[in-house]
Amino acid sequence: MKILVTGSNGQLGSELRRLFAERTADDCLFIDIGELDITDPVAVRSFFHEHRPEVCINCAAYTAVDKAESEPDLARKVNVTGVEVLAKNCEDSGASLVHISTDFVFNGEADKPYSTDHPVSPVSVYGLTKAEGENRALSTCSRTWLVRTSWVYSAFGGNFVKTMIRLGKERSEINVVNDQVGSPTWAKDLARAILTIIDQREVTKYGIYHFSDKGAITWFDLAAAVMDTYGLNCKVNPIPTSSYPTPAKRPAYSVLDLSGTASVPGMEIPDWKTSLQQCIEEIKTLENA
Ligand SMILES: NC(=O)c1ccc[n+]([C@@H]2O[C@H](COP(=O)([O-])OP(=O)(O)OC[C@H]3O[C@@H](n4cnc5c(N)ncnc54)[C@H](OP(=O)(O)O)[C@@H]3O)[C@@H](O)[C@H]2O)c1
Repeated sequence: MKILVTGSNGQLGSELRRLFAERTADDCLFIDIGELDITDPVAVRSFFHEHRPEVCINCAAYTAVDKAESEPDLARKVNVTGVEVLAKNCEDSGASLVHISTDFVFNGEADKPYSTDHPVSPVSVYGLTKAEGENRALSTCSRTWLVRTSWVYSAFGGNFVKTMIRLGKERSEINVVNDQVGSPTWAKDLARAILTIIDQREVTKYGIYHFSDKGAITWFDLAAAVMDTYGLNCKVNPIPTSSYPTPAKRPAYSVLDLSGTASVPGMEIPDWKTSLQQCIEEIKTLENA
């Protein structure tokens, strides 16, 4: 199968690159903004015309949640216009689209995991642009798998886990919010889940899927687990969100209901702690390389 991965230098794109390296049957194209800006309709059309992908996995996104509050136009350009451009080219060329979205499309007022059909109601510019991007993907390309995920980390790129490791080495004590509940996701697990959905395309309907690792925890819990797993002697103090103001508001609760995804044949949803341990092993290996 001919597969196009956009935004392939990011966390998820990098994990897909590694997974596809083990799959010789697929012909994969990995591109990022340097090769193709997804917001450029002429360039995208000509790319699709030349390469004719059968599946496009869109990992390209504007992901700077706080910065988006002061750069709404740029966030919208990538997360809405860019998605629409890709979706239109997929629709016109007969390709399927895998588009990635976020738990931040929800307002966080729920007290049980968000189902795939729960109404979206974002509380930040980033969340708003991602919600609009979801709409554009689903309404423009009739062959869209929309995969919402949450709290993504990996050995590649910048993320909360790597920030905690850095701070844990620099400081003896840190404060981390303990009143936002969600589910961490190792980008490698998400990449595997996306491949499973594509591989099971005869039985997986197009539409919305939720994927995270299993478990509902706070950022404090995650930070404490990072210190413990890595072996860092840094005390983590729980604090309320009100003591750590950020430009963007975040949902207080954003656990995703994984039941639909769990029913896809061959789908694996690992426990968050097992995946964190494996990722930290990888981070240590890369540090020592
Ligand atoms: N990270 C999380 O915690 C999280 C949580 C929930 C959902 N998600 C979603 O998961 C997906 C993957 O996230 P990620 O963490 O892998 O993101 P990431 O590491 O920020 O990677 C995004 C990639 O897209 C590229 N990009 C930006 N604008 C582009 C454009 N106009 N054309 C082509 N490429 C462009 C970026 O390049 P530059 O770096 O040069 O800008 C970057 O390489 C995104 O849809 C994100 O919204 C992420």
